[in-house]
Amino acid sequence: MGKDTLTIIDNRTGKSYEAPITDGTIRAMDLRQIKVNPDDFGIMSYDPGFKNTASTRSKITFIDGEKGILRYRGYPIEEIAENATYLEAAYLVMYGELPTREQYEQWVYDITHHTLVHENLRTFLDGFRYDAHPMGIFISSVAAMSTFYPEAKNIFDQESVELQTKRLIAKVPTIAAFAYRHSQGLRYSYPDNDLSYVGNFLNMMFKMTELKYKPNPVIERALEILWILHIDHEQNCSTTTMRAIGSAHADPYVAVAGAAAALSGPLHGGANERVLRMLKRIGSVENIPDYLKLVESGQERLMGFGHRVYKNYDPRARIIKNFAHEVFKVTGKNPLLDIAIELEQRALNEEYFIKRKLYPNVDFYSGIIYQAIGIPTSMFTVMFAIPRTVGWLAQWREMLQDPEQKIARPRQIYDGYSERHFVPMDQR
Ligand code: SDX
Repeated sequence: MGKDTLTIIDNRTGKSYEAPITDGTIRAMDLRQIKVNPDDFGIMSYDPGFKNTASTRSKITFIDGEKGILRYRGYPIEEIAENATYLEAAYLVMYGELPTREQYEQWVYDITHHTLVHENLRTFLDGFRYDAHPMGIFISSVAAMSTFYPEAKNIFDQESVELQTKRLIAKVPTIAAFAYRHSQGLRYSYPDNDLSYVGNFLNMMFKMTELKYKPNPVIERALEILWILHIDHEQNCSTTTMRAIGSAHADPYVAVAGAAAALSGPLHGGANERVLRMLKRIGSVENIPDYLKLVESGQERLMGFGHRVYKNYDPRARIIKNFAHEVFKVTGKNPLLDIAIELEQRALNEEYFIKRKLYPNVDFYSGIIYQAIGIPTSMFTVMFAIPRTVGWLAQWREMLQDPEQKIARPRQIYDGYSERHFVPMDQR
């Protein structure tokens, strides 16, 4: 094997250049030495959607898209989902190691005791229309929290970073549940510190007139696994947004709100909501061939399918599909599951999907379970944002500690007008 360098010959000048290869990459800045004359800006790379650009180094999540591998801090997602609690997985992603019993108990105590939101935030929530989309409520309420904790702007004060981290992890389920209760015209159900993080969310969502809400253990565990699967996924669109906002040294509340805004897009976290609407629209197994024809002709997208990185089965989708049956033993089977399973089978045998390596992603089956446990479709992306808040914060903290990171400010290829001069209006 030769040297770890790239030799580039610029055929415009006949000059050759050497660029070191490190971890399978070259530094884009090494291209700038390639010029046709001293005044030349030099070569840039052009990469719409960053399909082939590494924006950072990270130790948090590893994905092998070809093999369908996902690991949090080196641990296979399958082992974490099977053995860890949600807050245990969250601790691992945040701090890089599985917690000792003492660390875990302190972590759970700290988060449990930050679940309340300021009563003024409750008033803010009351101001939304009854039919406001819960994701819009979530995004704005998380951003509003930056006004309650101005000390969060001290992003290099580690004590403040720890406090804001715990506050955000603790409060996002409360905000999410309050948004749901608001949309249902129900009084807010406040946190119950006797319950687990996930059990408490179900309490804040579904407690009615009973004195003490008792979560169904099967549903509690199913939701815990779903949330573990959604914690982090390396440099996806919303995490990139979190890092970009954080790179300007904005506080973590507005950065999480911005990341959640990116997640709300139907091509990203908003897909789980669109999958349910798609399955309802297909309506029956008999209608699948016609719908696939619309997809293959480019008139429709098969929501919940395809992925920028996975060119194999998303391991998260496989886990979700496998435990769906456990949930339906308690909730009753969701008829949409049969359509989803048949749709997957048909699609995976169609040339259009095989050629493009399109497989089910995390959003394909998650919504079917959320619906079965009583979560309305409009809440599905909020259900994604709650656990992903942990990943966004872990990535944000890693970025702030990375000496190579600077404010995110890409370049462009300008192909607009060259210089021209102002024309008075009556001469246009
Ligand atoms: C998430 O990045 C992450 O890690 C995200 C995520 C996370 O945990 O953070 O995993 C969560 O966002 C999962 C993805 C949820 N989105 C959807 O399910 C929406 C449907 N999927 C797509 O729109 C699409 O697959 C993307 C957005 C997920 C990926 O898009 P890419 O990588 O930019 O690929 P592309 O749009 O260039 O598609 C390549 C080809 C195109 O066909 P051609 O132009 O080559 O003919 O595949 C086609 C696309 O039209 N294609 C689809 C398709 N996805 C891609 N055709 C039909 N249905 C689809 N779902």
